[in-house]
Amino acid sequence: MTNSIKIIQPDDWHVHFREDEMLSVVTKFSSRVNRRCIAMPNTLIPITSSHQALNYKNLIQMNSGKKDFEALIPCYLTENLNIEDFEYSLQKNIFIGGKLYPNNATTNSEFGANNIKNIYNIFEILEKHKKILLIHGEINRNEIDIFDREKYFIDEELYQIRNTFKDLKIVLEHVSSDYGVDFVKTNNNIAGTITPHHMLLTKNDVFNNNDINPHHYCMPVVKNETDLLALRKAACFNNTKFFLGTDSAPHHINDKRKNNSFKAGIFSAPSSIELYASIFEEENALENLETFSSINGPKFYNLELNKSYLTLHKKSMNIPEFTEEGDIKIKNFFANKNINWQVL
Ligand code: DOR
Ligand code: ZN
Repeated sequence: MTNSIKIIQPDDWHVHFREDEMLSVVTKFSSRVNRRCIAMPNTLIPITSSHQALNYKNLIQMNSGKKDFEALIPCYLTENLNIEDFEYSLQKNIFIGGKLYPNNATTNSEFGANNIKNIYNIFEILEKHKKILLIHGEINRNEIDIFDREKYFIDEELYQIRNTFKDLKIVLEHVSSDYGVDFVKTNNNIAGTITPHHMLLTKNDVFNNNDINPHHYCMPVVKNETDLLALRKAACFNNTKFFLGTDSAPHHINDKRKNNSFKAGIFSAPSSIELYASIFEEENALENLETFSSINGPKFYNLELNKSYLTLHKKSMNIPEFTEEGDIKIKNFFANKNINWQVL
């Protein structure tokens, strides 16, 4: 029996750090185990300029409490981006790429593109500079079933983007369906991040007893058992195209459900790598954890592998119910449950 595993230090390619007090509370959970994190730019004022990106990068670094922790920032792509500043930021590595939020697909996506064709000029620039396009791959229209939003995005937009910009490297973020896994597997220059929650929950965990569990509510919404199994298989056994991205997305507990509206987002940072390790163990694939957590991501982003290592110990740990500090109170993902792995 394996009692410990040593892996190259992981990176988390999809994290929400937020701003102000929330940022100062949550940052240390991601820097606890990761060397680098992609900090999502859907802050209240979206990050669209070099100036904002540099400030945000420094702010996260300062709050991480770790000298060599690094936040990587993608630009929030809008229809009225300052193209000169954007191109400058790509050249200077201030932006790692661009994040496409289709309008109203998720939290703070109202600045996103209404018509994706209107930002094809930006995709061309990303392709030219060999930078990454990160995509929240969902279409939100009234007539589209909430569980089919990813499929519609792939069919209506992603095939076209893929065929138009053949050299553009794309990350389909938080792949959530069997259909999404297949798309990533069968197309060139595309990879996918996979969250722990999409490999642990199905829709019954969100919608039950005529109610919604706000703490399991996220975008894309978790789906069927078939989807969960396809995601587990992709993370654990597909050796290059999928990598770690928690989409850890904290919301204050009082904001999760307000009247009849719900904030999407699951806060998994306090036990992220431990959750992944448990999943890989369940799939008898612990030997593939490092590839998923620490190798496939940097390779796709064309960055160096980390030089430091992280050791996980086989030791049961109970996840506390809340992360609480000052005015902040967040419900932790997998609260009150035991997992088998710990970083000591
Ligand atoms: O569940 C989600 N929460 N999905 C997203 O895409 C955004 C995120 C957030 O910012 O809360
Ligand atoms: Zn996200």
